[in-house]
Amino acid sequence: MNISSDIFNIPIINNVIIYEKTDSTNTLAKSFIKNDCVDGTLIIAKEQTAGRGRIGRSFSSPKGEGLYMSLILKPDMPLSLISQITLPIALAVANSIKKICTLPAQIKWPNDIVINQKKLVGILTELKDEYVIIGIGINVNNSSFPEEITATATSIYKETMVKYDFYTLIYEIFKHFNDYYFKMQKNKNLTFMQTEYNEALISLNQEVYIIPNKQSMSHKNPFLLSTDDLEPHICKGISPDGSLICQRKNGELIYVNSGEVSLRGINGYAK
Ligand code: BTN
Repeated sequence: MNISSDIFNIPIINNVIIYEKTDSTNTLAKSFIKNDCVDGTLIIAKEQTAGRGRIGRSFSSPKGEGLYMSLILKPDMPLSLISQITLPIALAVANSIKKICTLPAQIKWPNDIVINQKKLVGILTELKDEYVIIGIGINVNNSSFPEEITATATSIYKETMVKYDFYTLIYEIFKHFNDYYFKMQKNKNLTFMQTEYNEALISLNQEVYIIPNKQSMSHKNPFLLSTDDLEPHICKGISPDGSLICQRKNGELIYVNSGEVSLRGINGYAK
């Protein structure tokens, strides 16, 4: 993998470390956070033996086929905003894939990028001390997938029949994200990217089910999200603080700030 020195023209990137193989770049990033010189460190691995996804899931990371990387940042923002950093990174990844690969990349809030209803990218954001670790896994040149995900996963190669250079993607992603990151720090909300994000959202104006997990609650009214609250809602896009706005049949708005949201009536990954 060739990383050009022009990556350091991107202000958030201070250091790049490439590994042949590791268990998980996010796990490795956590072990790096022991001193104060890791802000802006990008860890890339050619292979992960224990790639991790959200909610205890695994992320298939075969050698040389996908792009597996984690960026460590020390953001100057309130914790509530830091925990929404998945949204600008998802938008940066979707925009980069649209631009470089001319693919109709869409965001499945909050942390996946899908193409034709199949998962192309997973994002795992984790907090440690005053740092945030942004883990990104992109299926770039995979020609096949393990049987259990073959119906729901895709790669840039499968969609375009073109093998893409990893560095071109890396540079474009962090150039986009750098811009969002500084705007986010300055504005202290996500209003600046709300319209663009909503246009990329696969569920916008669609019926969605809110599948709650332990962190899933509405900051407006926590009692609106109980485990048996599986009625269909209409997705109205994100709010300035990054919550997903879902409308009940009676018109009531629910603000979901974490959790699983499923699209109704669509087969494939984004169901
Ligand atoms: C998900 O699908 O729920 C998120 C997947 C995130 C995968 C990336 S690959 C690089 C980084 N290291 C990991 O172990 N996970 C993230």
